Amino acid sequence: MSDSTSRKSVLSGMRPTGRLHWGNYTGALENWITMQDEYTCHFMVADWHVLTTALDKASEIRQHSRDMYLDWLGAGLDPEKSVLFVQSQVKEHSELYLILAMMISMGRLERNPTFKEQIRDLNLGGEISYGHLGYPVLQAADILMYQAHAVPVGEDQLPHLELTREMARRFNRIFGEVFPEPAPLVTKFARFPGTDGKRMSKSLGNHIEIAASPKEIVKKVKSAVTDPARLRKSDPGHPEICAVYTWYQKFMPAEAEETAAECRGALRGCVDCKMKLAAGVTEHFAPLRERRAAFEAAPEKLDEIMREGTERAREVAAQTMAKVHDAMGIG
Ligand code: TRP
Ligand code: SF4
Repeated sequence: MSDSTSRKSVLSGMRPTGRLHWGNYTGALENWITMQDEYTCHFMVADWHVLTTALDKASEIRQHSRDMYLDWLGAGLDPEKSVLFVQSQVKEHSELYLILAMMISMGRLERNPTFKEQIRDLNLGGEISYGHLGYPVLQAADILMYQAHAVPVGEDQLPHLELTREMARRFNRIFGEVFPEPAPLVTKFARFPGTDGKRMSKSLGNHIEIAASPKEIVKKVKSAVTDPARLRKSDPGHPEICAVYTWYQKFMPAEAEETAAECRGALRGCVDCKMKLAAGVTEHFAPLRERRAAFEAAPEKLDEIMREGTERAREVAAQTMAKVHDAMGIG
C-alpha cells in the first residue's frame, strides 16, 4: 500500500519479567504482528524499566530479555520487517530521558494515577526511588526517540501516553517542532481472563504461557474455574461468565457458538469442554512453539538478530538526538 518512507512510525515496549502469557499475546503481541505490514515498527525490550520495581532481580533481566525475543520471534515478529531492540543497548534513551526530565513538574508526576496505584499495590510506603517517579519520563524518551506517531498499548498505559504528549508539546513549544505527538492505539481484548476468571496476570499466578507445552496446557486449562452453577453435566451453564468460553471465542472462534449452546443446554460437561479447548489451543500455538524452539536451539542466530536490531535502533536514535541537539543548541 504505502512505501516504507511514507509509513507512520510505531513504537511499543514490554518489560522483560518472564515468559509471555495468553494475556500479553491477545492484549499486545498479536496486534504488533499485524502492524508490521502497515507501519515502520520499533519494538523494545524495556529492561531499564524493570529496575524501577525489581532492582533485586537485576541479574535475571538479561535472560528474561532473551526469552522475550524468543517469544516475539516465535509469535511472528519479524526482524526483517521491524526493529527489535533492547532499551539498555541504546544509550541515547538515557540522554533524552535527562532532557525530558526538565519538561515536566514533580507534581504532575506525583499525580500520575498509574504511579499512585503502584504505590498502593506494591506497598512501597516511603521507599519510592527518584527513578520510579520518573518511569513515564523514560517511557516518553522511548517513544519520542523513534518519532512515533502511534503507540499500541493497553488501557493501563493511557496516563503515560498523556504525559508523553505533554512533554513533547513542551519541548516543541520551547525549542521548535521536533517531536510528533504520539497517539495511543488501544488494543481490544484488553481484559483477558486467567484460570481464576480474573484478568490474566503473572502476578496473580493465573496465567498460561504462550509457549506452554501441550501437557502444561491441559494441566492449566483443567484447573480453570468455570460456571459455579454447573456441579454436574445436567446443570445448565452460563458461558458468558466462564473463562473457558472466552478462550474459545479467542482461539477457536468457529467452535464458540456451539460451545455456548451446548453449555446452556446442559449437553456438554466442563471436563470435555476443557479438553477440547486444550487440544485446539495446543494446535493454535504449535507453529509458535516450533519457531521458538528453532531459535532457542540457535543462540548465535539470536545474538545476531539482537545485535542487528540494536544497530538499527541506534541509527534512528542518533538522528533524533542530532535534531534535539540542533534545536536546543547543546550536546
Ligand atoms: N510501561 C510499559 C509497560 O508496562 C512498557 C514500556 C516501556 C512501553 N516503554 C514503553 C510501552 C514505550 C509503550 C511505549 O508495560
Ligand atoms: Fe465453561 Fe464449557 Fe463448562 Fe460451559 S461447559 S461452564 S463454557 S467449561
